[in-house]
Amino acid sequence: MPLVSMAEILKDANQHGYAVGAFNVNNLEMAQAIFWAAEDERSPVILQCSENAAKYAGFDFLSNIVKIGASKATVPVALHLDHGKSVEACITCIRHGFTSVMIDGSHFPFEGNVAITKQVVDIAHVVGVSVEGELGRLGGIEDDVNVDERDAMLTDPQEAKAFIEQSGADALAVAVGTSHGAYKFKSEAKLDLGRIKEIKQLTGAALVLHGASGVLPSLIEKANKYGAKLEGVRGVPEESIKEAISYGINKINIDTDMRLAFTSAVREVLYTKPTDFDPRKVIGPARDSIREVVRGKMQLFGSSGKA
Ligand code: G3H
Ligand code: 13P
Ligand code: ZN
Repeated sequence: MPLVSMAEILKDANQHGYAVGAFNVNNLEMAQAIFWAAEDERSPVILQCSENAAKYAGFDFLSNIVKIGASKATVPVALHLDHGKSVEACITCIRHGFTSVMIDGSHFPFEGNVAITKQVVDIAHVVGVSVEGELGRLGGIEDDVNVDERDAMLTDPQEAKAFIEQSGADALAVAVGTSHGAYKFKSEAKLDLGRIKEIKQLTGAALVLHGASGVLPSLIEKANKYGAKLEGVRGVPEESIKEAISYGINKINIDTDMRLAFTSAVREVLYTKPTDFDPRKVIGPARDSIREVVRGKMQLFGSSGKA
């Protein structure tokens, strides 16, 4: 089926209290793995490209791979720009057939963030494309941070209400203590998940959790066994993800776990089969590994069986 808008996918998730995974894609094998997992699980799915992914693979290649995959899919698929930095980047994606864009104005003061998000909404909505905005700063909650500093960084529920009303965004990324990458917490996970509940009550909007990878210990173990040096890494525990969904998260961004799934599998092949040099034999297992990880996320997020 053709790509659908992200708002359509998130509307059902918001109504029925589950979350849909938004998986970062950089190449053919990653896209295939995500599509296959979505079919295995009968799950709606969001494939998202960062501007860096588009720089790496090319907007044409990436968007066409996803469009071809979606045309064969029997589950709803949206193609989304992750962390768009400018109005121009969002327009480029809309022109390439993306059905959703994120404009990340979180580094601007509130009014500037509303203004740039509304500018994108005004353009995107004319052609049925969804828009995600972000409010608050992603980052770990450090022990030595006082309440005021913490509040300044995390998403303020009243501001979230005003942001949604004034910008018209379809989805809102919230800051509750998660951060991008593999080093999210110094010791145990510190998150302010109760904040999600308050934001949901005030906005009713589809909410997005960035920086949500679990940094899965099994993948870290495999990577380190075959030569990686990943020390002190720590991700978001599965229990926290379940809690976040129960409070109102409807879209969950996963990139780091995809990277770990891919490269740990590549490391294993190169180490255990030193005579193999056919890229298909090296990257094929990486694709299988991503498929399994994505299936696990769909089960965890409650989107399995929803398509
Ligand atoms: O939030 C950032 C995503 O993980 C994408 O990362 O810009 O390196 O592709 P990237
Ligand atoms: P992770 O680094 O935790 O996978 O988060 C990815 C993300 O938020 C992409 O926007
Ligand atoms: Zn992000």
